[in-house]
Amino acid sequence: SFQDKIPEGLSRLPGPKPLPIIGNVLEMGSRPYLSLSEMSKRYGDVFQIQIGMRPVVVLSGNETVRQALIKQGDEFAGRPDLYSFRFINDGKSLAFSTDKAGVWRARRKLAYSALRTFATLEGTTPEYSCVLEEHICKEADYPIKQLDSAMKADGSFDPFRYIVVSVANVICGMYFGRRYDHNDQELLGLVNLSDEFVQVVGSGNPADFIPILQYLPNQTMKKFVGINDRFINFVQKIVTEHYATYNKDNIRDITDSLIDHCEDRKLDENANVQISDEKVVGIVNDLFGAGFDTISTALSWSVMYLVTYPEIQERLYEELKEKVGVDRTPVLADRNNLPLLEAFILEIFRHSSFLPFTIPHCTTKDTSLNGYFIPKDTCVFINQWQINHDPELWKDPSSFNPDRFLNADGTEVNRVEGEKVVIFGMGKRRCIGEVIARNEVYMFLAILIQNLNFYNLPGEPLDMTPEYGLTMKHKRCQLRATARVRDDY
Ligand code: HEM
Repeated sequence: SFQDKIPEGLSRLPGPKPLPIIGNVLEMGSRPYLSLSEMSKRYGDVFQIQIGMRPVVVLSGNETVRQALIKQGDEFAGRPDLYSFRFINDGKSLAFSTDKAGVWRARRKLAYSALRTFATLEGTTPEYSCVLEEHICKEADYPIKQLDSAMKADGSFDPFRYIVVSVANVICGMYFGRRYDHNDQELLGLVNLSDEFVQVVGSGNPADFIPILQYLPNQTMKKFVGINDRFINFVQKIVTEHYATYNKDNIRDITDSLIDHCEDRKLDENANVQISDEKVVGIVNDLFGAGFDTISTALSWSVMYLVTYPEIQERLYEELKEKVGVDRTPVLADRNNLPLLEAFILEIFRHSSFLPFTIPHCTTKDTSLNGYFIPKDTCVFINQWQINHDPELWKDPSSFNPDRFLNADGTEVNRVEGEKVVIFGMGKRRCIGEVIARNEVYMFLAILIQNLNFYNLPGEPLDMTPEYGLTMKHKRCQLRATARVRDDY
């Protein structure tokens, strides 16, 4: 069927033999990033598995992934038509939909320019270099106070619970021009749903590949549809408010700037790609979803690693104390002077690889890679976890060691090593929030480490086993913290 007609000179894809109906679902198991990394040792950087009846090509290895996503970028830039993707953003998602290349490219460009405008917009007062910095400075104080009061009241806290609301608020500030109280039930309800969302859209969810599962009663899928509805309603309400108060001479936030684009375009008869208003404003939904879940997951893992490696936490605090001091809030301009913190963040990205596979790709035409034939419309998984743990690329890949990214005397980050870490994808579909994400993770972490010392409950070692999904989370847990020097909370 799939590989019946192989053009001359090209080979048939290697891979494990599939069972009837279920394919290789059993070998893939519940931790596909591990099982598929293991298979790559046997079958190489390009191999094929079958999920249900559907063939999927799995790519590993830095060079191979680079070849596919960068050098043959257009051929691998599509998204597959997966069952779960149809429910995300009402099927109109920028990141997950099967938009044709022209429409997707135009939307991506719009999203990118809206983000760039607002990330670099000047702050409301000169003490901030940009609005992103301003929002983060204002929001980061909040979890510190909250954690402190949770400590006083309960003796411990769930780090994810507080981080996620602060991160969502920075995003809400930029996108919608508003923030929410940390006890706001609407926002809390929404951000706490992200665990279930990412589990369904993780690469290799059988329901995406085995049609019969779509017709059986399925609680998880039902919940998933509900989550997406709540999400759409939340954003829709805000967008409607923005339309009602929109003024083209006062663009307040990213939502306004996308509305502005729709209004502008109505006057522009030469626009070559026509995108509906819905698809323009729907971009807000994508940016919101992509922004809060990824960054709060990164920060939450960071706190877990701080607790697991107290000596590294201490070194990070010492670095901050020396380079920034304890009397002012760290800002973006300090980032270059904090090499250990930068190395720590790179090692979190590499070691946790909490986004183990990119969003699935799809070939846009018949193509070949490393001599193997891959037909048009083939679903492709990119195994970032494998690249980040490849023994060919990393010394002792399973140990957590930020120093691997520093030069010998620890004064500088080795940029070449840093660029080997793959967590934002590569090429045409590369994450468009990368700069914002790196800045935001850096700022929140710097502020948290400067103010608090995190540790676990005595006798309760942390469980660092990730729960599989598009983004992988650690299990919810209780931690403790004490205030560092500043005692104004
Ligand atoms: C796509 C990672 C934060 C917006 C992606 C992809 C990855 C990724 C792996 C898929 C690449 C592919 O399919 O090949 C991350 C990580 C983040 C992060 C690790 C945080 C640490 C953000 C933020 C935003 C954002 C803050 C928005 C402000 C997007 C969008 C896409 C995307 C819109 C879809 C791009 C497309 O399909 O063309 N991201 N991301 N991401 N990301 Fe991020």
